[in-house]
Amino acid sequence: TGPRQWLQDRTRRAHGRRCSHDRRWKDSRLSNVLFPDRARVDAREKVLGTAKYGADFAIHDMLYAMQVPATIARGQVTAVSIDAAMRVPGVVRVLTATDFPPPPPAVPGAGPPPPMIVTDISYRGQPVALVVAESIEAAIEAAEAIRPVYESVGFAAVIDAPGVPHERAKDVVAGDAVAKMARATTRHEAEYVSPAQHHNPMELLSTTAHWQGGVLTVYEGTQSTNLVKGVLMRNLRLTSDQVVVKSPQIGGGFGQKGSVQRQTTLVARAAMLLGRPVKMVAPRGQVFHNATFRPRSRHRIELGSDASGRISAIRYDVDHQASRSSQFGPDYHEHVPQMYGVADYLGTAADIRLDTQDPGYMRCPYPHPAAFAFESAVDELAFKLGEDPVAFRLKHHAEVDPLNGKPLSSTFLNDCITEGARRFGWDERTAAPGSMRLPDGTQIGWGMGCGAYPVLTHPSIATLRVRADGTSRFAVAGHEMGQGIRSMLEQVLIRDLAIDPAGLELAIGDTSVAPQHTTAGSWGTASGAPVAAEAAAKLNLAMTDLLAGRKIVGNLHQQLAAIRRPYLEIEVSHVGPGQGAKDLTTLRAGGYAITGPEYPAFTTFSYIAHFVEVRVEPRTRRIRVPRVVSVVDCGRVVSPRTAESQVRGGVVWGVSAALREATEVDPRYGGWLNNDLADYYVAVNADIGDIEVGLIDKPDPLVNALGVKGLGEVAMSGVSGAVANAIFHATGKRLREMPFRIEDLL
Ligand code: MOS
Repeated sequence: TGPRQWLQDRTRRAHGRRCSHDRRWKDSRLSNVLFPDRARVDAREKVLGTAKYGADFAIHDMLYAMQVPATIARGQVTAVSIDAAMRVPGVVRVLTATDFPPPPPAVPGAGPPPPMIVTDISYRGQPVALVVAESIEAAIEAAEAIRPVYESVGFAAVIDAPGVPHERAKDVVAGDAVAKMARATTRHEAEYVSPAQHHNPMELLSTTAHWQGGVLTVYEGTQSTNLVKGVLMRNLRLTSDQVVVKSPQIGGGFGQKGSVQRQTTLVARAAMLLGRPVKMVAPRGQVFHNATFRPRSRHRIELGSDASGRISAIRYDVDHQASRSSQFGPDYHEHVPQMYGVADYLGTAADIRLDTQDPGYMRCPYPHPAAFAFESAVDELAFKLGEDPVAFRLKHHAEVDPLNGKPLSSTFLNDCITEGARRFGWDERTAAPGSMRLPDGTQIGWGMGCGAYPVLTHPSIATLRVRADGTSRFAVAGHEMGQGIRSMLEQVLIRDLAIDPAGLELAIGDTSVAPQHTTAGSWGTASGAPVAAEAAAKLNLAMTDLLAGRKIVGNLHQQLAAIRRPYLEIEVSHVGPGQGAKDLTTLRAGGYAITGPEYPAFTTFSYIAHFVEVRVEPRTRRIRVPRVVSVVDCGRVVSPRTAESQVRGGVVWGVSAALREATEVDPRYGGWLNNDLADYYVAVNADIGDIEVGLIDKPDPLVNALGVKGLGEVAMSGVSGAVANAIFHATGKRLREMPFRIEDLL
């Protein structure tokens, strides 16, 4: 067959394989799978629409609230007349700055709590007032009737505004990159830009608050019921037993819901002042203006290679858009030094302080922009050296963390690359840019890119109760934002316990059931699976003690019934390597207690390799991505179904970041110009082709007893770089600023 026939066959095959899931089980090349494939525990609830999200809680006699956003970027609110708003039928109250207690004293290490309503305006869109009414319609109408009076001062909102403060962070240094660079035989240097982006989960930001009998109960889609509780305690001067926060299901977290939201204290305060439950759901535009976002970042990368054709030195300077007081540092060096075993590294980083809301974590927060830049640079260097991108990367297997000299505990990146290349059919690629095309002139490009993400762990305290009536309950830290944390916990518990899965309740995301820790950073499985395994082991031992040698057939429920015990309950805790009692104390206090990727005796990362095909139409220059193959090393896979789903989600977002998403600052007024889903493009079904996922599924020998490293964020790392590399292969044009648009290829 000629190249044309071959391309057609390949395309047909690619498009005939919408579901890669079944195939995995027939692929003997991957290692044995410890955990079987099972449907999500909440699949049925979600499909039927009975799963309850934060804003789904309707409480009798509830009021509705709406924020009034500031229309200046910087200055003071000098007056807020509420008369017009109060005349709207159904309006109950308008809260302004005077309705809030003064800012609480700072807690060392806890960072500033989000302000309540204040008269100092530090970004456009900041809430100036909160209207509370008997209906959502009245709240909106009244909020629109309020015209605050401002005293505005000059502001800077764009990253290259003259005179804005550049705040240098600590350098990241290994070896002597400057000396090695001077001796390099080949060098590549370029700047890569990742734009500001906003998370757009289906679920909007919302808070429902109820003050009853001296206890404040808050329902909110949050990845951090513990932090919400802590901030409410500080801001509203409440004690620990006066605040309960519940987040049973989250309609997409992505880091946006990992920090305490702007409206939370406002709504809680309204509920306390009015003695009635209050709900607020932010409209999409307010989400753009008030939530954290992925800041614009600029990456200047210089790579040098030596006579052996390996990368011998890395210089990497990065800066990003920050707010005047944000604490989301420019930590883009968090995986690049460790990925390819380059011992000589010099990284600098800076915050550029602007008048915007705080930037923050957004899926794969640092590795996504860093891997876009770095994987593009590696591809450019390989091209300069005349090397195949796959062969070039395979030469860079890393065994040691160059920053601290510790061993990397498991690095199956090369397995990801070779397995991905095999599945993709990389051998059939012709190297020259522009050399693969369809008869109609459509250019085809095959590119690849890799990624890594730190393996992190937090302590957990769990209770497990098995009852004679056929039910059981496992309560632990964790938030279900769609990633499948309950499905993962169920896998471990039903593997190790003779219980009825249908009667198993997984109680998470609720400060009243177990000490909660923020769920983010892909640390959920490495923290939750080990404690579930330990709980199961401890309960089995306790059951053996209880039976005292009696032989009773049947599952644990039946055994308990036979000895007339209504239930058996145990408590267990688990900490990451190097953690101890002090971390359990931090967990109980609602704080962050994260360890990794550097542990006392080793460093560990999850890895991924992506292979991307792009097609560029000859006349319109439209860029399409018909297929992607991604192979991940996340240690042991606990829930194959949700693991594959996480990878697909990360790939979708990586394609979306490369080709669609950017938020534009309004230079005239500050704030964001495109603050809805009509003007902020996210990839839709029509943008996404076939995504095939491979799971290496080899346990990490050191990080925990199950060998789980973690998956989620790593999935997005390197996708956008692979798209850029594929576009170069298709067209010969190197695009270094995302998103890549038609006009870039004209
Ligand atoms: Mo993730 S961006 O750490 O929720």
